[in-house]
Amino acid sequence: MAKLWKGRFSKELDSRVNDFNSSVSFDSAMYREDITGSIAHVSMLGRQGIIAADDAKKIASELAAILDDIDEGKLTIDPEAEDIHMFVEEELTKRLGSTGKKLHTARSRNDQVAVDLRMYLRKRIDEICGMLRKLIETLVAIAEKNLETVMPGYTHLQRAQPITLAHHMMAYVEMFKRDMTRMFNCFELMNFSPLGCGALATTTYPIDRDFTAKMLGFDAPCANSLDGVSDRDYCVEFCAASALTMTHLSRLSEEIVLWCSWEFKFVELDDAYATGSSIMPQKKNPDICELIRGKTGRAVGDLTTLLTMLKGLPLAYNKDMQEDKEAVFDSVDTLKQCLSIIVPMLATAKFLPENMLAAGKRGFINATDCADYLVKKGMPFRDAYGVVGRLVALCVERGVTLDALPLDDYRKESELFDKDVYEAIDLITCVKGRNVVGGPAPQAVKKHIEQIKNTVLKPIEEQ
Ligand code: ARG
Repeated sequence: MAKLWKGRFSKELDSRVNDFNSSVSFDSAMYREDITGSIAHVSMLGRQGIIAADDAKKIASELAAILDDIDEGKLTIDPEAEDIHMFVEEELTKRLGSTGKKLHTARSRNDQVAVDLRMYLRKRIDEICGMLRKLIETLVAIAEKNLETVMPGYTHLQRAQPITLAHHMMAYVEMFKRDMTRMFNCFELMNFSPLGCGALATTTYPIDRDFTAKMLGFDAPCANSLDGVSDRDYCVEFCAASALTMTHLSRLSEEIVLWCSWEFKFVELDDAYATGSSIMPQKKNPDICELIRGKTGRAVGDLTTLLTMLKGLPLAYNKDMQEDKEAVFDSVDTLKQCLSIIVPMLATAKFLPENMLAAGKRGFINATDCADYLVKKGMPFRDAYGVVGRLVALCVERGVTLDALPLDDYRKESELFDKDVYEAIDLITCVKGRNVVGGPAPQAVKKHIEQIKNTVLKPIEEQ
């Protein structure tokens, strides 16, 4: 296809250069934003008398028709086109003849692509936040059912202190809540319109940048045209927010992988969300979690791609920037795919409270509580720590747990021990005792759940 910019050139482009240069295979994903942006641009051109109002109207309605035709599958995007911007303009000119050629007045692809990508990402951020909200809803539902489901809390993957499944799930809620905020922040910072920045230095036509910014839902036009066409901070910020969200999903996935193992058996995945082995008949594998964990690498890679691509670029637009889209699109697709699968997987998973409790019982996770028992009776903490350390060693030697150790043995270590020690080191007592803001006590977690329901989970119209 002849290039729209062919005037300056005396030779046809080498077909390898054509392929190398082309971005239509991926930027066609932004056809809707491209056409919407063009409609705003041409409406402004008409309003300002830069082109005849009649022509502007014709162009705008033909652009709308092109959009419908692509939506309905009546028009396929030509894979030979240089990019989506060229394709749309060429199609318009095919349909309208020389009137179509007026669309690109007072504009460049450099501001055009920047507008398109911002609009595209705004939409994706909305979708992702909706999905994060669903995930939070699912985790809260699990938490509500498991306020008293005692399990070991870990440090160094060693059983440490008693918590509940609710408390554990709500930790992830906090992470995903921050992820949502990061996505919103990214949206807010990028919601400025590059349209009218032109190739780099705006234009001599009397354009109205405020009008197009408003029409396209931006807060204002970008304040500097060089920055407007060369800023890709929003891509970096989006990929950073995505990579961190993926990292959180990956940590959760890693825990589910562990919890599915016979070594833990804290959870049983629904058959619809697990997979088998081609050789080992007994296997039920948490492939979904492993894939989420694995795909996190791509998200981190996308972020690295963008930062590396940008770091040496002089102002303003450089073709390197065409590489931004594949990284951004890959992050969008990966994150959305992972979010869409983890929600039903979690919602259908069966947690196994008996196994969690059994693990808790075997881990001396009430040892701190046992020491605190002595402290409450007047012993300095460091001494109490020593006493309980020796008791634990005795239990290990005998192969018993602290609650099975006879009172005599306790009293040999300290006269302060009495039979109420057994109540004090009961796991549910230990959990209930941690009734501090942010703690695992059912009451404390319940408050946290309420707070989440009244903020993140509140329907938008009630916020
Ligand atoms: N396909 C290009 C991109 O993605 C559009 C901008 C092209 N601008 C240019 N001056 N060649 O960045």
